[in-house]
Amino acid sequence: MSSHVIRPAGDPGRYGAAAMILHWTIAVLILVQIGLGWIMNEALPDHSPRQELVEGVHISLGLTILLLVLVRIGVRIANPPPPLPAGMPAWERFLAGASHLLFYVLMLVMPLTGWALVSLGARPISFWGLPWPHLPGVAALLGSPAPKAVRHQLSHVHVYILIWIVLLNLALHVAGALKHQFDGRPVLWRMAGLKRPGGPGSAS
Ligand code: HEM
Ligand code: HEM
Repeated sequence: MSSHVIRPAGDPGRYGAAAMILHWTIAVLILVQIGLGWIMNEALPDHSPRQELVEGVHISLGLTILLLVLVRIGVRIANPPPPLPAGMPAWERFLAGASHLLFYVLMLVMPLTGWALVSLGARPISFWGLPWPHLPGVAALLGSPAPKAVRHQLSHVHVYILIWIVLLNLALHVAGALKHQFDGRPVLWRMAGLKRPGGPGSAS
């Protein structure tokens, strides 16, 4: 297994290049996606051409995130993460693991609920101008056309409940990364192309 692990040569304490690129790309895209969702729902007039344009970009970008997350899960399975720094208390290890797992679930459920939302009607779905299928099973499970109340509830989950969980988990995640950055067990260098503290070859 270790012969297939893609990590910067000689530094088993760091995430691999693919994991780092995917982490930061997906993180930026999720924040852009939340901004686009807000603009299209709150700032632009309903059914205006600009709103339709932003919605089209939101849908295509959301589906792009879904594909990138699937690639990321594949990379994660092929390349187990580096062990956490020695001396980290058990509760911190648990919290970091739970927060990471929650992020993986959210990174799948966010785009899947969005995809389910646009699969409720008969309107075709466009992925950067290309045809994209409706989410299989949605019509059978929720009805076609789905009752208004079902659409409303699914929309509430996508635009409100999940976003708040993402933002709270992000706050926990960033607070954890910053805490370790300053308490002598820094982790930022493991996920960013930063210099390893203590220089090459030093222990974490
Ligand atoms: C929405 C945005 C973000 C998401 C979804 C996200 C998600 C994740 C996930 C799932 C992991 C675990 C990787 C794995 O073990 O497979 C991780 C690790 C990490 N993230 Fe983020 N992240 C986000 C933003 C950030 C930001 C803004 C920072 C900067 C403080 C950050 C810093 C880190 C660091 C340092 C690690 C490595 C932790 C370790 O050493 O084990 N992340 N992130
Ligand atoms: C990580 C991925 C995604 C994130 C973070 C995200 C986030 C958001 C946000 C923040 C809103 C509006 C919130 C507000 O009203 O202030 C929204 C609305 C919406 N999103 Fe997403 N979204 C994602 C993926 C998708 C995907 C993949 C689709 C479709 C294929 C989609 C379709 C929609 C639709 C149709 C709405 C409007 C819902 C309504 O007003 O009832 N989203 N999204």
